[in-house]
Amino acid sequence: MWVTLIRRMALAGMASLVGGASMASDGAPVPTTDRQAKLVRVVRQDCGSCHGMRLTGGLGTALTPDQLRDWPVSSLVAVILHGRPGTPMPGWKAMLSEADARWIAMQLQAGFPEETNP
Ligand code: HEC
Repeated sequence: MWVTLIRRMALAGMASLVGGASMASDGAPVPTTDRQAKLVRVVRQDCGSCHGMRLTGGLGTALTPDQLRDWPVSSLVAVILHGRPGTPMPGWKAMLSEADARWIAMQLQAGFPEETNP
């Protein structure tokens, strides 16, 4: 068990040296820093067109930590990738990988980052 833990920490450390990729504490892949910047733009602009510029709701529901804190991450990932049939919420799996969706879900629960100018 300890060996696994230490190996995971070593892997995460190595991954962050090469290209900014890293792993979440549960070993799931995390998008690179560059990809994260793109995802922030997608969420602020594309998701924001329905969920509000501040993600506080519009045609779509508010995507704030208060609203989403109690959701299992896997349920958020499912809604983001597959949409919600019968509502305007589209699926994003043509544009976003599962790792992307997972990262977005976790950022939404934590308070979504602002866009940074490149
Ligand atoms: C075309 C409009 C539209 C776009 C674009 C859109 N959504 Fe939605 N989304 C909705 C609507 C409407 C709902 C509420 C569906 C319902 O009534 O259950 C929703 C629901 C959700 C939910 C479930 C939240 C809840 O409280 O039910 C999540 C999470 C979500 N959207 C994330 C996203 C993300 C992330 C993006 C961008 C990748 C996105 N949405 C883009 C319209 C949109």
